[in-house]
Amino acid sequence: MKHFKDKTAVVTGSASGIGFETAKAFANLGMRIALFDMRADAVKAAAQAIQAAGGEAIGLAVNVADESSVLAATEKVVSEYESVDLLMNNAAVFLRGGEIADLEDDVWQWLLSVNLFGPIHCIRHLLPHMKAHGRGGHIVNTSSISGFVVRDRQNGAYAATKSALVSYSEALRIDLEGSGIGVSVVLPGAVASDFYLTSAEHRGDLGGTNLFPTTPADTAAGMKPVEVAARIVDGVRDDRFFIATHAGTRPMVESRHAELMAAYDAAQDF
Ligand SMILES: NC(=O)c1ccc[n+]([C@@H]2O[C@H](COP(=O)([O-])OP(=O)(O)OC[C@H]3O[C@@H](n4cnc5c(N)ncnc54)[C@H](O)[C@@H]3O)[C@@H](O)[C@H]2O)c1
Repeated sequence: MKHFKDKTAVVTGSASGIGFETAKAFANLGMRIALFDMRADAVKAAAQAIQAAGGEAIGLAVNVADESSVLAATEKVVSEYESVDLLMNNAAVFLRGGEIADLEDDVWQWLLSVNLFGPIHCIRHLLPHMKAHGRGGHIVNTSSISGFVVRDRQNGAYAATKSALVSYSEALRIDLEGSGIGVSVVLPGAVASDFYLTSAEHRGDLGGTNLFPTTPADTAAGMKPVEVAARIVDGVRDDRFFIATHAGTRPMVESRHAELMAAYDAAQDF
């Protein structure tokens, strides 16, 4: 997507962190922004911050896991801004708990409902509005390096949802070939956001162990959300499918790839 001015972006999970900074960056390029987030006060404050900086924004309290909430918000966006050009599925929740085999269904369902069904619902209801005007557009799905590489961080269920989002994005790219609507999937490493805190707040009293209800030091020392946002905007402008934000995570991906290639070497030699 090359031209942003006077177009409309919907950014989910945009009351703070990567979503908020990317929404601001799109607003600085002249886009109208609809911010979707479950934290009602925070999302209104985020929209006001964009307005105060001279941008155009509305902040809507939306639960992306709830299809009726997404549908109602979509109708508000279309009545306010008429059409949609860019959708960034960025809302997510996170947990570093115990061993994956012990994780309770309610926690699995929570992680899947936000991290996978959130994008499913938003794409289902917003994509028709992006197709209708024929101008093309872009869909950005925020996955994670955890969508590719699982390490000893007790975050396997989260990683499974982010891996599924990569596959979903690959399928969407095939479906949208020739439509003028590009697709990107973002693979951040550690980002110094409040993700551990917002996730703990949303998780409430669901079952399971939460080993990290507060932000650990490696995440606090991660890349700033504003720097991640700049890389996302650059990737959208260049229509890159994979937007890798953290060059330092490359060896992890290479090592996984090497293991896969070794498996094919073994198949070849069998
Ligand atoms: N922080 C990291 O280290 C890191 C690393 C890799 C990927 N990511 C990804 O980046 C994205 C943004 O996270 P962040 O780090 O900026 O944290 P963040 O907590 O600032 O942003 C996540 C937002 O999603 C919102 N949200 C949660 N559940 C929701 C729901 N059901 N409906 C609507 N909104 C909901 C939260 O309220 C929050 O504002 C997420 O997709 C996350 O998986 C983060």
